[in-house]
Amino acid sequence: MPSFFGRKLVPSIRPLDPEWAADCARLHAPSFGHPWSEYEFERLLAADNTVADGALEAGGRRLLGFVLSRNAGEEAEILTVVVDVATRRRGLGRALVGTHLARLAGLGVKALFLEVEEENRAAIALYAGYDFREVGRRQGYYPKASGEAASAVVMRRDLG
Ligand SMILES: CC(C)(COP(=O)(O)OP(=O)(O)OC[C@H]1O[C@@H](n2cnc3c(N)ncnc32)[C@H](O)[C@@H]1OP(=O)(O)O)[C@@H](O)C(=O)NCCC(=O)NCCS
Repeated sequence: MPSFFGRKLVPSIRPLDPEWAADCARLHAPSFGHPWSEYEFERLLAADNTVADGALEAGGRRLLGFVLSRNAGEEAEILTVVVDVATRRRGLGRALVGTHLARLAGLGVKALFLEVEEENRAAIALYAGYDFREVGRRQGYYPKASGEAASAVVMRRDLG
């Protein structure tokens, strides 16, 4: 069972390797219109320039959330952050991103970027809480089932 501190979950956060690909795909699928397959996660997690952190339930092996970045020298890009639908709003996203920022800073990353759908209030609030700032917009970036497309907000956070 996860451990509790009030309503907050206290996860154990650790780097992820390709063995976690199936768990990542399981968590990713319900949250995105174009979910990434287990194979795609396997390739990403095996890549030298991927930095991946996962939140496990305390004392267990169940993956509750993860964050993935692609690292290019002094710059990196967050590719995705996902928390299990059943454990949202309990501090896991914040804990994951905080640990991830510290790890990237330790790897020498100076500037971190990401793209997020403009209507994704939860993610934008999470990133804003870590001082990510909007630096641009990409119109019509995310295709939607309706045939329309949502814009992407490009955000940046300096590290170190
Ligand atoms: C975005 C996401 C990772 C947040 O994870 P989480 O564990 O629920 O987030 P936390 O509980 O740590 O919340 C941290 C802060 O984020 C913001 N936030 C999180 N969920 C929110 C929501 N539904 N509405 C508004 N703000 C929200 C709040 O500022 C919150 O701080 P607070 O609880 O003190 O108000 C999660 O909602 C998710 O997996 N969404 C689907 C995937 C996704 O959209 N990923 C981002 C794009 S790649």
